[in-house]
This record gives sequence, structure tokens and C-alpha cells, in this order.
Amino acid sequence: MKDYATKITEQIDNTLSVEEIEKQIEIPKYTSQGDLAFPCFVLAKKWQKSPQEIATDLSEKLTDPLFCKFVVVGPYINAFLHKETIVKDVLAQVLKNGENYGSWNFGNGKNVVVDFSSPNIAKPFSMGHLRSTVIGNSLAHIAEKCGYKVIRINHLGDWGTQFGKLIVAYKLWGNVQQVKQNPLTELLALYVKFHTEAEKNTELEKEARLWFKKLEDGDEEAYHLWLWFREESLHEFTKIYDLLNVHFDSYHGEAFYNEQMNETIKTLNAQKLLEYSDGAQVVNLGEFNLPPCLIQKSDGATLYATRDLTAAIYRYNQYQFDKAYYVVGQEQSLHFQQIIHVLEKMEYPWANNISHIPFGFILKDGKKMSTRKGKVVLLEQVIEEAVMLAKQNIQEKNPNLLEKEEVAKMVGVGAIIFHDLKHEKQNNVEFSLEDMLKFEGNTGPYVQYTHARACSILRKAGQVNFAKDLTGKIEEESWMIIKQLILFPSIIEKSFERNEPSEVSKYLIQLAQDFNKYYAHIKILHNDHYLVTRLALVKSVTIVLEEGLRLLGMQAPEHM
Ligand code: ARG
Repeated sequence: MKDYATKITEQIDNTLSVEEIEKQIEIPKYTSQGDLAFPCFVLAKKWQKSPQEIATDLSEKLTDPLFCKFVVVGPYINAFLHKETIVKDVLAQVLKNGENYGSWNFGNGKNVVVDFSSPNIAKPFSMGHLRSTVIGNSLAHIAEKCGYKVIRINHLGDWGTQFGKLIVAYKLWGNVQQVKQNPLTELLALYVKFHTEAEKNTELEKEARLWFKKLEDGDEEAYHLWLWFREESLHEFTKIYDLLNVHFDSYHGEAFYNEQMNETIKTLNAQKLLEYSDGAQVVNLGEFNLPPCLIQKSDGATLYATRDLTAAIYRYNQYQFDKAYYVVGQEQSLHFQQIIHVLEKMEYPWANNISHIPFGFILKDGKKMSTRKGKVVLLEQVIEEAVMLAKQNIQEKNPNLLEKEEVAKMVGVGAIIFHDLKHEKQNNVEFSLEDMLKFEGNTGPYVQYTHARACSILRKAGQVNFAKDLTGKIEEESWMIIKQLILFPSIIEKSFERNEPSEVSKYLIQLAQDFNKYYAHIKILHNDHYLVTRLALVKSVTIVLEEGLRLLGMQAPEHM
């Protein structure tokens, strides 16, 4: 819409900048009130006249082939786009640019580092990590669409006291074969067993601390067990990432920074930022009204924060990032505030290019899901179940579909992703497979199904030469869709600025609804002089739906 808005703004006034005017342009709620509305309050102040007067004066002067009329409504000028010209222009743009429609280059190839997913090795990949994975993956795609170069980092939780627990549990009750066969389930069982047994026997916690100390000191047995657990878990995580179609450029987890930690502590020391507090070394953050950031415990053990400071410094040296995102649950907000402030105190000028991107919880029947007591839903099982349900639905809707397995996978996985991304990320998400797999309502399958339906119309239509035959003449009912297509680039910009994939998902639902309404009223394949433009519209809808779904991390099957 911006492009068209600019056309009026250029003529309105050269005392205000185009940006200033664009900011004020509104889109009226009802099409009958026009396509764009310009409020004259700011100009009124500037020119010392009433906004109504200015609206009347200006509307008489405005001319542009893209608009058919300007109507004054109180202090507003409402502009009506010249539909035929716009239709032709928009559809030609979408068809010409294809998947690049809506792309920006304000990123200028600068680096964005996205830290996401980052599960903990000794624990299974829970539903909680799913949120970080899908949100981070989508934000990565969106940043790329805006012209940034994205580095995807999986900051594996592969270090910490939990490995002490796991080693103890494994040595007491574990079995090589069982772990190899079913790493995540088996390691989880051991982890859970450790906690239930530790409630009865306090010695176990002590043992666990001892084994973690051994691990930190490079004990051979401890190290090899750790390495093995890490490999087995990573192998399982990779299966999930493959299913979700998510990839990383780096798997440098917490352990990777072990050797660099001393350097960080040395720097903090040299800068006189460390203080003793209860025997531990901390950075005081009183001036920010935050609790001190714990750097090193009295026994010399380093902490999650120390590793994150070290990782941030490493990442900057490695990538000179323009932005660094940490897609991590809101329960870690304090941690990231502390990290950023400590880096500020260390006088790294890039400290404020770091953003924590928080999100809400996944709830089951209104309650938080937790790993501790084994009340955890394993993501792999969830995905399998979703794919199975998708297959049943497809079987009912389209029993003759050839690539059922493939499509069921796209739909099942897509349903999970879309369900997560359709809400503002700060909201909690209630987990319900049944809801997410519905083919109606605000679901992934609904958007995918709309795309497949549009593809099937195009298949029936056969070859069309859009470049030659496109006119822009089309029935009024298409206008909602056209306006929605115009919005796509600005939706992407907004979702980037807000770090909010739901801008895209909500947009897609709206586009799908508009298209289905159109499809219900209009015989698309009817052979009249609108036919080519109608088909161009359908083709454009498939392009934008597919690209929008891709930005969310989903696929768009052509048959469903
Ligand atoms: N492994 C952590 C967890 O599951 C998340 C790590 C997020 N990334 C980071 N750089 N701290 O809670």
C-alpha cells in the first residue's frame, strides 16, 4: 500500500517529508470509505487553518492516474484507487517477482545471529523448546527476506550439573543397549528416576555434584559418558529438526565456551567489575535496579551467565553482528537483561544490538508442562501423531490423493508450526492436536488447503500467457484480495520490526478467507473477458500463500 500512498503524499505538500505523511496515512475500515485516508490535522497545525478546510482545498488539487476520486470526509481526504490500473499493476508485480515478491533489501547483507531452539542435552526435546525452534526459524526466514544474512545458532545446553545427575543415574541403573536404542526416552527415564530416588536418598545429589566436578576437571570416564550422551541426544534432535525442516549453521553449545571462560573473567577483573558476594564473584547491577549477575561460584564453577557473556563476545568477534537475537522463553528475561547490562559495563558498543525475544508458555489443559516429574510430552511423538491425524483427515477429504504420505507430513508438521505462530508470541499457547489439525478456522491446514485448491484451479486452466493477456479487468469481488496482496511487503517489514511471525500468519488467514469467499461467489474458470485476470489473481494468491507459509517454516502442498 505504501507505494500507492506515496503517490498521493508526493502531491500533498513538500513541507512534510514523504515519511512523515506516510506515517499518517490510514486504511479505512470499510471499502466504501475509500482505500486510503489522509488526516489533515498535522498540516492544519502547520498552516494555521482548519483540517476540514485543508482537506477540501487539497482534494481539489490532487490528481493521479492511480486514483479515480478523492472524497472529503470531515478532516480526512479519502482516496479511491483506480481499480483497473491497480489490479493490473499489482498482479503483474507478483507474477514477475514470484517468490521474491515482498522482499526488501534494507538488511544490506548485514549479519543477524539468531540463537534459537537450544535444547538441553540431558533432557528430552520438550514442547517448550518447540516454541523457540519455530519462532526462531521463522524470524530467521523473515530477516533473510529483508536482506540480512542470518547465522542460525543452536546454543545446546550441553554443560551443567544435570550431567552429574545423569552420570550417577546411568552408572546405577543404566544400560548401554537401552540408551542406544531409545536415547531420549531412556535418558529421560534415568533423569526422572534420579529425581524420584533423590527425594528419598540425599546422598545422590552429593554424588551428582561430585561427578559434575569430575567432568569439569576432565576425568576420562565422565568425559566419555558426557560425549556419548551428547552424541546420542544430538542424533535424536537432528531427526526432529529434519522433520521440521530447520537447519543450523552452528551447534556450539555451552560446553564449547569452557576454555574461553577464563578470558571473560580476566577481562571483568581487569575492568574492576567483579565483586565478592557470599564468596561468589558477581557483577553489581544495582544502578539498573537488577540483582547482581553471578559470574563464578566459590568452588570455582562458572555459571550459565558466564557462558552467555563469553558466547556473546565470541559471536561478535566471529560475525560482527548487526543484531543478535536470543529466542528464549520469557522466564529468562532477567538473565538476558543482566547479560546485556554486563556487556554494557564492559563497554562493548554492540551490547545494545542484542535482543532477548521472549515468548509465552505451552499449556496443556491450562497448566504449564514440566520435565522434572516426567510429565513431559515428547515432541517426536507429537509430530508422529499430528501426521497420522493429518493422514486420516486427508483420507476423508481426498481418498484418491497420490502422495498421501508426503502431504500428510507437510500438513501434520505445518499444523503444529502454524498453531504456535498464529498468536502473538508473548501469549501462552494451549496445546491441542485436534484444534490445530482442523481444516477450517485459523489453522495451518486451512491455509495449506486454500493454496492447494488454488493450485488445482490453475491445473484445470492449463497454460495461460499472463505477460501478454493480462488486462486488469475483473469483477468487484476480487478487490479484497488485491488489497491484501498489496499489503504483503509491508506485513513483512512489520513482522521484522516487531520480531513477530504472527503478523504473517494472521495475514495468511485473512488472504485465505478472502480467497475462499471469492471462490464461493465467482466461477473462476468461466470463459469470459475477465478470465485471464482472474487466473492471474489465483496464481498470485498461490505465490503469496506459498511464500508466506515458507516464512513461517511451512510447506505448501499443491495437492491435498
Ligand atoms: N538451554 C537453555 C534452556 O533450555 C536455553 C539456551 C538459550 N540460549 C542462550 N544463549 N542462553 O533453558
